[in-house]
Amino acid sequence: MSDQIKYVLDEENIPKSWYNLNADFPKPVPDVLHPGTHQPVGPSDLEPLFPMELILQEVATDRYIDIPAPVRDVFRMWRPSPLVRARRLEQALGTPAKIYYKYEGVSPAGSHKPNTAVPQAWYNKEAGIKKLSTETGAGQWGSSLAFAGSLFGLDVLVFQVRVSFDQKPYRRALMETYGARCIASPSTETESGRAILAQHPDSPGSLGIAISEAVEVAAKNPDIKYALGSVLNHVMLHQTIIGQEAIKQCEMAGDDPDVIIGCAGGGSNFAGLAFPFLGLQLRGGRSRRIIAVEPAACPTLTRGTYAYDFGDTAHLTPLVKMHTLGSTFIPPGFHAGGLRYHGMSGMVSHAYELGLIEARAYHQVKCFEAGVQFARNEGIVPAPESTHAVRCAIDEALRCKAEGKAETILFNLSGHGHFDMQAYINYYEGKLVDVDYNEADLATALAGLPAVAA
Ligand SMILES: Cc1ncc(COP(=O)(O)O)c(C=O)c1O
Repeated sequence: MSDQIKYVLDEENIPKSWYNLNADFPKPVPDVLHPGTHQPVGPSDLEPLFPMELILQEVATDRYIDIPAPVRDVFRMWRPSPLVRARRLEQALGTPAKIYYKYEGVSPAGSHKPNTAVPQAWYNKEAGIKKLSTETGAGQWGSSLAFAGSLFGLDVLVFQVRVSFDQKPYRRALMETYGARCIASPSTETESGRAILAQHPDSPGSLGIAISEAVEVAAKNPDIKYALGSVLNHVMLHQTIIGQEAIKQCEMAGDDPDVIIGCAGGGSNFAGLAFPFLGLQLRGGRSRRIIAVEPAACPTLTRGTYAYDFGDTAHLTPLVKMHTLGSTFIPPGFHAGGLRYHGMSGMVSHAYELGLIEARAYHQVKCFEAGVQFARNEGIVPAPESTHAVRCAIDEALRCKAEGKAETILFNLSGHGHFDMQAYINYYEGKLVDVDYNEADLATALAGLPAVAA
């Protein structure tokens, strides 16, 4: 029996196209609506925010979309990312299950986010744009867009959620190293930020607020476009290189996953790994269990409502039908900042509604416990977001042990936690608490969902 650990593809195997699950869904994803008219948005509605190529990808139904050669050239810096068999973890757990992880922490920014930051920056540069605005929760997305901007000569302005700005000064330093400007959100630089600060001077911020600030800046300045690191269809599309590579690597390993797992904030790393496998299933292949893992403090899929909602707090974005906790919901300040978003990608929500995927929510202490166990066996310190996937993979492996089943488990290790060591320190010192969302705040936020005819 082979005892191979890493399954590595050469650069020729970087996918030449992105895979679009919208070509294979049995029912189309509901349209994105204009917030004023409640009619489907057209390309011209989105033009102030995005370059046309990305708008076209947002509505595309082609199964495959070519990846431009200059984008693939940049991907060669770290892709294909390795698929790793977690043999030491398997042994430590005493499980008959095989555990594989796709490791996206090998990118320059340390996560899967450059997979979409690079094409987004490139399409903007091609459209003649000089400056991008964005938000960041964990700092991973901001770093990734800052990195991509530096490669293509674009200025990048990042609104970093206040709680993450305070917890992670080194992420800010990384963004600045790549040449970006980073502002704590809510800020006094935008109307949306000032309105929040007037009501809540100590606001910890949220992705929803930071998105409002970044969108406002782009909407008011014709020379600035906006970039989003998750949620939108074109972001899910760009991340599918993860799953396409993983399919080849599983073939190399001679294994076919029974369970596929990803943590889910806005849904992009989860979709990136899962959608190409789901596509195989929808085109007649075998079915697998596919699990999206979210924080119990911000349980969008497991506790949210499937409804049209805004992507941001100040209601500047179009309406997306998605699992949502309400756009004004401000999740408590737990450590997986990249999972603190009130909504879920429309495509991931649709897959959940169709019963094609499962969802599970975990509290953070159990996730850090899994992250430490993973680090002590596999060497890599997972990002706090990724520990949710690790927790689920370990629990599935323990289920296999209890049931005596030798299933194959594949999860996405979406990033490393080298900038998140304060969270680990808090965990060691017993200061990390399991925060829950506030039921009353959730009810208020859900009561404020926009009324859209079904
Ligand atoms: C390492 C990591 N994993 C996961 C996420 C969650 O985002 P998404 O659900 O879009 O993958 C983030 C977001 O910042 C992240 O930094």
